[in-house]
Amino acid sequence: MSTIELNQPSATAPQIPVLKHAAIDGMEAYRALVAEAERDHEAFWARLAREHLDWRRPFTKVLNDANAPFYQWFEDGELNASYNCLDRNLINGHADKTAIVFEADDGKVTRITYQALYHRVCRLANALRARGVKKDDRVVIYMPMSVEGVAAMLACARIGAPHSVVFGGFSAKSLHERMVDVGAVAVITADEQARGGKTLPLKTIVDEALTMGGAEAVKTVVIYRRTGGRIPWIAGRDAWLHELEQAQPDTCEPEWVGAEHPLFVLYTSGSTGAPKGVQHSTGGYLLWAAVTMKWTFDIKPADVFWCTADIGWITGHTYICYGPTAVGATQVIFEGVPTYPNAGRFWDMIQRHKVSIFYTAPTAIRSLIKTADANAAVHPRSFDLSSLRILGTVGEPINPSAWTWYAEQVGGGRCPVLDTFWQTETGGHMISPLPGATPLVPGSCTLPMPGIDAAIVDETGRDVPNGQGGVLVVRKPWPSMIRTIWGNPERFRHGYYPEELGGKLYLAGDGAIRDPDTGYFTITGRIDDVLNVSGHRMGTMEIESALAANPLVAEAAVVGRPDETIGEAIVAFIVLKTERPTGAEAKRVADELRAWVGKEIGPIAKPKDIRFGDAMPKTRSGKVVRRLLRSVAKGDAISQDTSTVENPAVISQFADAV
Ligand code: WT7
Repeated sequence: MSTIELNQPSATAPQIPVLKHAAIDGMEAYRALVAEAERDHEAFWARLAREHLDWRRPFTKVLNDANAPFYQWFEDGELNASYNCLDRNLINGHADKTAIVFEADDGKVTRITYQALYHRVCRLANALRARGVKKDDRVVIYMPMSVEGVAAMLACARIGAPHSVVFGGFSAKSLHERMVDVGAVAVITADEQARGGKTLPLKTIVDEALTMGGAEAVKTVVIYRRTGGRIPWIAGRDAWLHELEQAQPDTCEPEWVGAEHPLFVLYTSGSTGAPKGVQHSTGGYLLWAAVTMKWTFDIKPADVFWCTADIGWITGHTYICYGPTAVGATQVIFEGVPTYPNAGRFWDMIQRHKVSIFYTAPTAIRSLIKTADANAAVHPRSFDLSSLRILGTVGEPINPSAWTWYAEQVGGGRCPVLDTFWQTETGGHMISPLPGATPLVPGSCTLPMPGIDAAIVDETGRDVPNGQGGVLVVRKPWPSMIRTIWGNPERFRHGYYPEELGGKLYLAGDGAIRDPDTGYFTITGRIDDVLNVSGHRMGTMEIESALAANPLVAEAAVVGRPDETIGEAIVAFIVLKTERPTGAEAKRVADELRAWVGKEIGPIAKPKDIRFGDAMPKTRSGKVVRRLLRSVAKGDAISQDTSTVENPAVISQFADAV
C-alpha cells in the first residue's frame, strides 16, 4: 500500500473559484443529477445513452442483470463507435474542424480535420477488410503516439474488430504474451518510435514476438512508416500502411454492432498471475467517454484539449481516442516526452497550441517541479499559460504540495485542478471534482460522478462510517464497467465481485476514506500487491516471476517503497544460486538483472533498488515476510517484532540497495 503524504486540508491551499456556465453548473445541479440516478438508475442511464450517442437501432432494454456480475447494458441497441466519433461530426457540421494537432518529438506540427481523419480511418478499415480481417477478429496495435495510432483504433472499431493496444514500452515477450492471449489475426505497428531524441525499433520487436510461437494466426502486419529506418520484411505478411491506404476507397460502411460487442481488450496487471485482458463494451464504454468529456472536462466547441497519456493505457483510450472525438473536440497529441528537448516542453506546447484543458499524471508534475525550481527558463511562469481553464490529474494520488504548485504555477490560481480517480476496469472517471460545482480540497478526488454508486466497506462488505478507512467498492453496475477478463470469466467474477463481500459489490482494489464533514473521498492506495510506478500499474508477482526465471536467481521478492517523484519505486530482494555478491560484483549482477527484467516485461518494470542476501527472511512456515521487506525497502530501522522470523540474521544483509 502506498503511503503518500495524506491530505491534510492545508491552510495555504489556494482557493480556486468554480467555473461559471459549466456543463454541471453548481452543486445544486450536481445533486440533482445524483438524485435523478438514485431515483431510477436505469432511466438515468437510458436518458444519457439516448442524448449522447447516435444509435443505428435504438435500444429497448437498459440493464440486464440476469447473469450478474456479467452485466449487459443497452443490449438490443446497435451502433458503431467510429461512426459516433467521426461520421457524426461531419453530419453535425464539424468536417473542417481540427480533430488533432499532432506534435512530433522533434517539434514538427501537423493538423488533421475531422473530414481527413474520417477518410484515413475508412481507407485503413477497408484495407484491413481486404486483408481478411472481419468482425470479431482481434487486432493488436503496437504504435507510437500518432494520428495513425488513433486512426488504427478507430479503423478496428469501424469493422467491429476488437483492438488490443500494447504500450510501446513493453518488450517482445510481453507483446507476445498479449498477442497469444487475445488471439490476434493482425498487428498494426510502426517501423520505429521516436521519443526524447531516441528511436525504438517497434517492427523488429513485433517480428521477434511473432517468432516466439503460438501467434501463427497473425497473417498481416501493417507498418506505419514513421522514421524511415531499416526494418526486416516478410513478403506477403508485411504491408506498408501508406500503400494499403492508397489502394482503398475513402469511405467505408461501418459494421453495426450490438451495444455489448467488445470494443477492445486492454491488458493490465493484477496482484497475481499473468496480465489480464480487460474487455470493454461498445455502447456503455463510449457513452461514459463522451459524458465525462462534458461533465468532468466541461468540453466546449472552442476548447483545445490535451491529455498527455499514451494510447497504450486506458487514459489514452478514453481521453485521446474515443472521448475527444465522440464530442467533436480539438485535441493535441504529443509523440515525445515532457523533458525533451528540455523540461519546459509541456508549458511551451500549452502556450503555442493555446491548450485550454490539460490532463496529466502527478509523476510528470512532480518531476517538472524539480527542474523548474532549478532552472527559471523551464518554469511555467516563463510561459504564457493564460489559455488554460481546467487542469486534471490521473493515475495516482497527488500530494497536496504538488497539487498546490500545479494550481498556482500552472493554473495561475484560476483553473480548477481535478484529481480524477478511475481504473482500466472502470472505463472512465469514477470519483472526481466537477469544475463548475465541486469545492476543491488538495489531495482528494472529492465526490463520485453522478450515477456512480461508490462506497467504502469493511472486509465483510458492511458500510463503514465516514472518517473510518475501508475498501472502495461500487454498489450498482454502471455502463462503462469492465465486462469480463478476456478468456477468463471466473477470474473476473472472483477478482471483482468476491464472495467475501457478498458477491454483489465491485471491488476496486483500493483503500479509501471519507471526510467526516464533507464526505469527500481520499484514495489511500492499493490493498493488493499491485504497485503504482509513475502512474503505471505493475504486479509485484509479475516482476518476481521474471526475476525468478533468471538462471542466476534462486529466490526473488518484490515490494514497493514510497518515492517522492514516481510515487512508488520497485525494490527487489534477491537470493542468488551462488553466494551473495558484494561491491562491484553486486553492481554488475544488479545491472544484469535490471536488463533482464527490461527484456522480460519492459523498461518500466526494472527495479530501482536491488538488495542481495543469503536467504529470504521467512516465517517458520516458510512464508516470505513482506511486511518486513517493505520496512527494509523504506530504510526504516527494524524495530518491529522479528520473533516470527525464522532467520532474522539475514535482515541486515539486505540493508544496502544496489
Ligand atoms: C489504479 C488504476 C485511471 C487511469 C490510469 C490508471 C490508481 C488512479 C488515481 C487517483 C489515487 C489513483 C488506483 C487505481 N489511481 N487514479 N486519482 N488517486 N489513485 O489506470 O492502470 O488501471 O490503475 O491507479 O490505485 O486502482 P490503471
